[in-house]
Amino acid sequence: MYKYTTASFASSRRLGAARSALGRGALYSSEASAIKRVAVVGGGQMGAGIAQVSATYEHGVTLIDVNHEALDRGHAYMAKSLARVAKKKFPEEPAVAHDWVEAVLGRVRRTTSLPEGVANADLVVEAVVENIAVKQKLFADIAGAAPGHCLLASNTSSLPIGRIAEPLDAPTRGRTLGLHFFNPVPQMKLVEVVRAAETSEQAVGRAVAFVKSIGKAPAVCKDTPGFIVNRLLLPYMMEAIRLLERGVADARDIDTAMKLGAGYPMGPFELCDYVGLDTLKFITDGWFKEGDGLRGDKAFAASGKLDELVAAGHLGVKSGRGFYDYSKK
Ligand SMILES: NC(=O)c1ccc[n+]([C@@H]2O[C@H](COP(=O)([O-])OP(=O)(O)OC[C@H]3O[C@@H](n4cnc5c(N)ncnc54)[C@H](O)[C@@H]3O)[C@@H](O)[C@H]2O)c1
Repeated sequence: MYKYTTASFASSRRLGAARSALGRGALYSSEASAIKRVAVVGGGQMGAGIAQVSATYEHGVTLIDVNHEALDRGHAYMAKSLARVAKKKFPEEPAVAHDWVEAVLGRVRRTTSLPEGVANADLVVEAVVENIAVKQKLFADIAGAAPGHCLLASNTSSLPIGRIAEPLDAPTRGRTLGLHFFNPVPQMKLVEVVRAAETSEQAVGRAVAFVKSIGKAPAVCKDTPGFIVNRLLLPYMMEAIRLLERGVADARDIDTAMKLGAGYPMGPFELCDYVGLDTLKFITDGWFKEGDGLRGDKAFAASGKLDELVAAGHLGVKSGRGFYDYSKK
């Protein structure tokens, strides 16, 4: 405690001295770099979650999607999720809980116009379909309409940030990076802050500060396939499927083993079903074919069992069946 107080005092004195030495301009520039207005493009599961947590932590948010139905779905997702949070936050006070939800939702403006939605943004987070051509076009449009200080972030799980930024000019590439949130966004604490080859230090610093400002924990990493979490998780999930294929154990026993023996909150098959088997296949096939440094890596080679389930439309929790059957629950 004593040490902390001394260090904070010393650093606040240093900050004060630095501010007077540098003059008001330095103070203004650090204030200008703070993120207050966030635009989120894509009102699906991830975009709505990012909009929700940003608004919860008092940022002004604009949610942008291609049509009003998608925006309405995003709004309904946020309202439902916030109601659950409010019930826990104010268990004895339903009226206060209701007002809190309304106040958070009131900070989220919705629009189908990209230029209008990003016009005043300090940060734009893109969470649209996982398609490189769509994202490249979108980033060029965002760069043309957002202010010059605005950070441009993608929530992509599997596409290189450097490739998404390719069509942009050099200064804009300097303020482009990855902000990889995890699903479900309101509950998951981690955000990977992905530094592409041309992302500036200042952009990384501003993004880290933003992540902390919304109650999340940042992990900064380079722009390589899977970043940190998926680069380690996907080989593990694929190896679990191969154990099953080799008849070493059944899915339930493998899940039990990893939960109770390794302390994982979910077993690998529960995780596969939760992520979506089509998503797992899409990412691993892509890495096997053309992942930077991963081409031909047998950890990501196709699995007969996975291909079979995907071809049958058994995609996991979302389709009611994957490695497990959810239709009776
Ligand atoms: N779902 C996950 O578990 C997860 C986790 C981490 C990252 N991601 C990444 O987040 C992104 C979004 O994933 P999701 O699961 O929320 O997708 P989703 O399909 O639920 O939502 C995508 C939304 O984007 C909208 N959209 C598409 N093109 C658009 C455009 N040009 N302009 C504006 N809106 C557009 C769609 O109408 C839709 O509402 C993807 O890049 C995905 O890889 C997903």
